[in-house]
Amino acid sequence: MPPDILVTAPLPAFLYDPLKVDYRCHDYVQANDKAALLAAEGARVRGLVQAGGTITPTTLLDQLPKLEIISVFGVGYDGVPVAYCKQRGLKVTNTPDVLTDDVADVALGLILMTGRGFVRLNRFVQAGEWEKRGPELTTKLGGRKVGILGLGRIGKAIAARVTAMGMKVAYTGRKPQNVPYEYVRDLKALAAGVDFLVVACPGGEDTRNIVNAEVLAALGKKGTLVNIARGSIVDEPALVAALKAGVIKGAGLDVFFHEPHIPPELMTMDNVVLLPHVGSATRETRQAMGDLCKANLDAYFSGRGVLTLIPDLA
Ligand code: 8YV
Repeated sequence: MPPDILVTAPLPAFLYDPLKVDYRCHDYVQANDKAALLAAEGARVRGLVQAGGTITPTTLLDQLPKLEIISVFGVGYDGVPVAYCKQRGLKVTNTPDVLTDDVADVALGLILMTGRGFVRLNRFVQAGEWEKRGPELTTKLGGRKVGILGLGRIGKAIAARVTAMGMKVAYTGRKPQNVPYEYVRDLKALAAGVDFLVVACPGGEDTRNIVNAEVLAALGKKGTLVNIARGSIVDEPALVAALKAGVIKGAGLDVFFHEPHIPPELMTMDNVVLLPHVGSATRETRQAMGDLCKANLDAYFSGRGVLTLIPDLA
């Protein structure tokens, strides 16, 4: 009998189809009567597949008494109740490394798009404005400083990219690392000293709203906020207020608090670039994430142990 798997996020066919070959999959997202699905199948479920941003309540996990493993299709596992999983001895896996470069590319893209005004200039050309007047002058990026909040794998890949462009790098995080970048312990102090503040740390309770009104005030008129991590890390109403009042220079955002909902005020701001959470959204990377998500289940259920256990459980 193949193991029973509960699927709690919409999955692409290139992951879902192979999963269906090797597992008895129960689609929690599509189920009209979720309670009936859990009543009928919950007691048999041994694995759960979710996406990076999926919130998994402990009340759901309580209804899966035979659950052994949660395999996250994404690197972020801020929606997984880790302490609960630890206590129950559940394995939790994610998809690190395979998406690092793509996410860092998006951060670099947002720095270029906001700093050099590329999106605004594209609109300028498309509107036929160039026929009437010359384009605006923007800001030279070489020599400017990028502050990275969270120098993990993705943060380091961002640092490498902006360094190649001649930008300087400072970072904050729990502790200094053996890297050739300036460490600034305090987030507000980091914001005060940089031209771009790039959010690249994990989401979850520990980082909720840490980029708040005070940090944005420290970033100030010279500063642009870039977020490729999680919407929860930035106090979104405070960000909207700061942009409205001209407290900061601009923002480049790939993630939001209530995706796919974006605060309407942000939609029309000329100094804001918005992307629909596409950090890992290339065919190659999503395939690699899907392969790793399934490989973790396969390895576990064939008794080989998982491939990428999340650090909190390692
Ligand atoms: C994906 C992500 O959007 O990896 C993550 O944590 O947020 C993204 O790569 C998502 O997990 C795929 O559904």
